[in-house]
Amino acid sequence: MTSLYETVSPPPGDDVPTNRINLTVNGQLRTMDVEPRLLLVHLLRQGLTLTGTHTGCDTSNCGACTVLFDGRPAKSCTMLAVQADGHSVQTVEGMATSSELDPIQEGFKEEHGLQCGYCTPGMMLAAKALLERNPNPTEDDVRWALSGNLCRCTGYQNIVKAVLWAADKMRAQQN
Ligand code: FES
Ligand code: FES
Repeated sequence: MTSLYETVSPPPGDDVPTNRINLTVNGQLRTMDVEPRLLLVHLLRQGLTLTGTHTGCDTSNCGACTVLFDGRPAKSCTMLAVQADGHSVQTVEGMATSSELDPIQEGFKEEHGLQCGYCTPGMMLAAKALLERNPNPTEDDVRWALSGNLCRCTGYQNIVKAVLWAADKMRAQQN
């Protein structure tokens, strides 16, 4: 793993003290100096330019900012960056390899699981956590797992089909 030292700078004239944190983001160890008030979503989007993590509400309602925090879905708009010290974060940028989409990304493509795409990264990460703990979910399981993620466009039907498509593919790959 490579280590990278970075600073998320406060605005000019604002001398809020910073805390040094070490976290793993998409498998890469990052060492950063951050303000104690910095939200995790802002660390990801502005500090690391991982703009696939979206903000829709800033109030923990919409799920657009969902990331995996030590493998579990977390709303990064309601976590402080300093809380990630010593932990692992996965964003949508960490799902595909250089040559292959994650089966969940494929499922969204095959089943037309998105329209504007704003909710999609959070949906896919919540789905990833579901399929890791339950490789054979029912439709109800999928709907429950995605119940913290709002979509304004699709009506959810194709999102659910996309996750079930991915579950089928992942099970087939294991046989
Ligand atoms: S931006 Fe985090 S839940 Fe909406
Ligand atoms: S695809 Fe537009 S909000 Fe879900």
